[in-house]
Amino acid sequence: MNDKLFTLEQKIAEAQLGGGQQRIDAQHKKGKLTARERIHFLLDPGSFEEIGMLVQHRCRDFGMEQQHFLGDGVITGYGTIDGRLVYVFSQDFTVFGGSLSEAHAEKICKIMDLAMRNGAPMIGLNDSGGARIQEGVASLGGYADIFYRNVMASGVVPQISAIMGPCAGGAVYSPAMTDFIIMVEDTSYMFVTGPNVVKTVTNEDVTSEELGGASAHSTKSGVTHLTATNDIECLEKVRRLVSYMPQNCEEKPSLKPYDLTEEWREELRHIVPENANQPYDMRDVINGIVDEDSFMEIHEAFAENIVVGFARLAGRSIGVIANQPMNLAGVLDVNSSRKGARFVRFCDSFNIPLLVLVDVPGFLPGTDQEWNGIIVNGAKLLYAFSEATVPRITLITRKAYGGAYDVMNSKHIGADLNYAWPAAEIAVMGAKGASEIIFRKEIIEAEDPEAMLLQKEKEYQEAFAHPYQAAERGYIDEVIDPCLTRRKLIKAFASIENKVLHLPRKKHGNIPL
Ligand code: COA
Repeated sequence: MNDKLFTLEQKIAEAQLGGGQQRIDAQHKKGKLTARERIHFLLDPGSFEEIGMLVQHRCRDFGMEQQHFLGDGVITGYGTIDGRLVYVFSQDFTVFGGSLSEAHAEKICKIMDLAMRNGAPMIGLNDSGGARIQEGVASLGGYADIFYRNVMASGVVPQISAIMGPCAGGAVYSPAMTDFIIMVEDTSYMFVTGPNVVKTVTNEDVTSEELGGASAHSTKSGVTHLTATNDIECLEKVRRLVSYMPQNCEEKPSLKPYDLTEEWREELRHIVPENANQPYDMRDVINGIVDEDSFMEIHEAFAENIVVGFARLAGRSIGVIANQPMNLAGVLDVNSSRKGARFVRFCDSFNIPLLVLVDVPGFLPGTDQEWNGIIVNGAKLLYAFSEATVPRITLITRKAYGGAYDVMNSKHIGADLNYAWPAAEIAVMGAKGASEIIFRKEIIEAEDPEAMLLQKEKEYQEAFAHPYQAAERGYIDEVIDPCLTRRKLIKAFASIENKVLHLPRKKHGNIPL
């Protein structure tokens, strides 16, 4: 028996070493943790249970039969984050560059299946040279097996991808189909074709970092939702992200106990400037409403004219979608609509109530927007809100103009409760633009056209630059003093937490893609 135990211990020790000390040192030298170290920092201490430690590849070509490493370049298993079960894989760059063999893919699929069957989040730590080149189509098949499971798991359990090294070629499509991507600055990159192919095909000179580093994907493409300065920060952010989510689509996010005290917030009275054209930071409104330090912004540097993120309101997890007057006056455009729609759909999939803060002057005009499909992209946000069955509350802080008023979770598309601050202006457009159109004739014919424009502008403003016409019709349920907002919203969300709404029976809707 002792011999047999010794053999087991030897195998475990061998597996712990991955591709060997030299390659571990090389990994550290790049500023990266090893696959096992990452799991250690991701999960609660001592909670990790490994599955498939002894798996090996089956390749017999190109001398591969001589090279075997236990685990075959990926560590898989389960553990807990803040006591809640999660499944995890962590690619080991020290073994064949973390490349994906048939056996490596099977290990990932196995835990994806377990995550789905047991209703727990799936977290992938990616650090891989892509398809195992020596294995050919067996490796490609492995990728497709994972992609298929990503799609099957979508909306069933939350899926999070941390990109902590290379992620290139077909490999990018697994993270792309998960709910959230987080990239580590300087040590990770994602692209479909690398700089060499780019040079050959388009003659562009570009580095890996420029083409697909964390900065490019967090600001230009929006592929990554979050970035981190190093591996440890990345893993901490993953832990935080998971804390807002339920385990699966059948559950609600956990509710922290909370006593409703006097929730007067004087500072909320002073954020929106008197002058309707002056910007302010919508994040100040969000932070003034939600529990202290609870707001976790998603896609912070991409499409900054809309702010989205998770927060807690009296311990309850909520998703916040808010126009940002500080950027492009908070206008809706192609990217902000895509960003908002994706976030709304995640929250709706996982029973996270929505708080929508509105200060929107409309859609961004111009050829660039029209030719890039603002029609179809704006429709994504409209569709996403309309089909969302979670509790939905809207607060108009200032402008709600034109079609954008409808889109931003208006009563008409199914919001449960709609509030406005007294400074809200709900109209087809701003007073100046409106007067120039409907009083054009009077203005042209007037002795003093400028004075006439000002007079008409004032008339329009008096008629529409307030929330009371909308409140008269019940489109706004209540006009509230900003300092009471937090208290109102806590009570309002509690009042609709058991909302039940079923969409008409269908196979699935056809969101404009
Ligand atoms: N298949 C098999 N082995 C791979 C691999 C792959 N796709 N990618 C990397 N490796 C191996 C390397 O041969 C090397 O092995 P060694 O330690 O025995 O020498 C090890 O992984 C580390 O790779 P290396 O190239 O030394 O690391 P790097 O940090 O300098 O570069 C990459 C990393 C990912 C840029 C580079 O390895 C690469 O270009 N890989 C191929 C990417 C690709 O085309 N994949 C297939 C299409 S999806």
